[in-house]
Order: sequence, then structure tokens, then C-alpha cells
Amino acid sequence: MKTTGGTDDQKRRAAEAAVEAVEDGMVVGLGTGSTAAFAIEAIGDLVADGMDVRGVPTSFASRELARDCGVPLADLDEVDAIDLAIDGADQVADGALVKGGGAAHAREKIVDAFADRFLVVADPSKMADELSHPVPVEVLPDARTTVAAAVSDLGGDAELRLAERKDGPVVTDNGNLVLDCDFGTIDDPGPLAASLSSLPGVVEHGIFAGLADVIYVGTDDGVDVIE
Ligand code: 5RP
Repeated sequence: MKTTGGTDDQKRRAAEAAVEAVEDGMVVGLGTGSTAAFAIEAIGDLVADGMDVRGVPTSFASRELARDCGVPLADLDEVDAIDLAIDGADQVADGALVKGGGAAHAREKIVDAFADRFLVVADPSKMADELSHPVPVEVLPDARTTVAAAVSDLGGDAELRLAERKDGPVVTDNGNLVLDCDFGTIDDPGPLAASLSSLPGVVEHGIFAGLADVIYVGTDDGVDVIE
């Protein structure tokens, strides 16, 4: 899996610390990205040791990894509740997140918001005083230019996310496109989140404000836990 930001050891430490909260019989939301992948692997180890856990994946990639790791899976509409979700972030500031580096933020937000507890796993490169990371906005393909214009009216600069080989746009698991929207420093994420949500054609954006319960930051020699 492609990794970004911190080291694998930092990410693994954060993920394994969060997975300590998983208990027998739980339904767990499985996040997307290189840090969440370490959590999925650790949950696979718990299952191999006999723990009864079911995972609700947030993306095709997390579903595939969970399958490889032997984690029994459930779809969101098959569970009454999710006990906890463990997911990564592209940036964390004062408990608010920007997510969507893996273009999975629409399903991530559904699962992470539905979970009784949402545990964020991160490395120090993700921690900031204020959010400034471009905000991924998933849009219906037809709404690409209208949403980009509206983002400009909101003071942002929207760029269509291209596939790594630049041979076309990134297409989400839902068949949509992603605009990475640079707003510079985001002083107050709540109102911007509400404005983005109100735009016709926006499926979901990557500002996760007021959702995280605990943030595990893996460091070179331990884990900082922010509650
Ligand atoms: C995917 C996400 C990821 O959680 C986010 O991009 C962090 O990924 P990584 O742990 O690889 O840095 O939001 O949509």
C-alpha cells in the first residue's frame, strides 16, 4: 500500500494502540489508507486468535485487505450499530480532520459518523495547529465545473484529482470525481463544511468536524492519545 507522511512504524504504533479498544463481539468500521491498513491487519490477528469481530469496510481497498486478513465482513445495511470505527486522516487540527486522500471520504464519513466511537489513527506529520490541507470534494461527474465555480466563490481553488499515471481522473468507489479544494488556512471548519454540503452535485467533502472521539498519534517511541 502506498504510504504518505510519517513512517510505517509510527503508523503501526497508532493503529495497534487503537485496536486495543476492540472487544469480543464488536462491529468495527474499517478505515481506508496506509495507517488504517495497519489496524485492519491487527484486527485480523485478533480474529486469528479467536476473537469474534465483524468489520464494515469503508472502501473497496479496505474490503480487499480485510478479506486477505481473514476479518469477517458485513455491509452497513446488515448491522444495527457500529461499536467503533478506526480510520486515518490527512490532517488533524483541534479535533477536526481533513480526510479523503484515498478518495474514500464519502463512505468513511457514513461509517465513522455512525460508529458509537470514532478512533483516528495518525502520525505526527498529520498534526497541525489549523487545517490547511486541500479539502477533497466528491462530486457527481456532471457537476465538476459547477462545483468548481462555487468553490471559487467560497474562496477556494478546485483542482480535479488525476490518477497517478495522469491518464485520466481518479474515479471513486461510487463512480464519481474528486476536486481537491485549496482554501488556504481554514479558520473555522464548521461553516465551510456546511457550505460545501449545500452545493448541488456535491456527494461528500472531506471535512470531518466534531466526529472524532480519540486521536492516536504514533511517534518514534510511543503513542500520544488525544481525547
Ligand atoms: C482515505 C483517507 C485516509 O484515511 C487518509 O488519506 C490518510 O491516509 P494515510 O493513513 O495513508 O496517510 O481519508 O480517503
